[in-house]
Amino acid sequence: MRRGLSLSALFAALTLFACSKTSEPPVAEAPPVAEPVVTEQDEMIGRGEAIAETACASCHAIGAETESPHPYAPPFSLLDQVVDLGTLKQTFTEGINTDHPDMPNWQFDQIDIDGLVAYLESVQAGASE
Ligand code: HEC
Repeated sequence: MRRGLSLSALFAALTLFACSKTSEPPVAEAPPVAEPVVTEQDEMIGRGEAIAETACASCHAIGAETESPHPYAPPFSLLDQVVDLGTLKQTFTEGINTDHPDMPNWQFDQIDIDGLVAYLESVQAGASE
């Protein structure tokens, strides 16, 4: 019984604490118009960019760069001249497996693949022309 008592005392203290928290005056919220509009597409591109930075940038030029750190790795901005971006999702789903021994063979989650491909499409040199 002692144990039960001390537990309920603790619970009461916690409740008090929680109540004192909520009785603070609310913090003014920024008007919704000030929020930047982030579309689902932007989020996917951002996800892909983060993956490219960590997993690909050691060999491939990412972003608008056209010179890759690895001499044989195609710059991502020129990738549509090397591969069909439309079939790239399929390729990534099966696990990239080029003949080149330098190119690691990954297995990505579908959402990461979608992000990567969205990102790659967004950085194609000819994409906005
Ligand atoms: C260790 C170096 C290295 C890393 C890291 C790397 N690549 Fe590559 N990648 C290469 C090389 C080298 C080639 C050229 C392969 C060839 O010509 O067979 C290549 C080719 C490619 C191609 C074209 C494949 C084809 O069929 O021609 C794609 C797409 C690609 N990489 C995507 C990626 C993505 C996405 C990442 C990150 C998730 C990545 N690579 C990370 C070295 C790398």
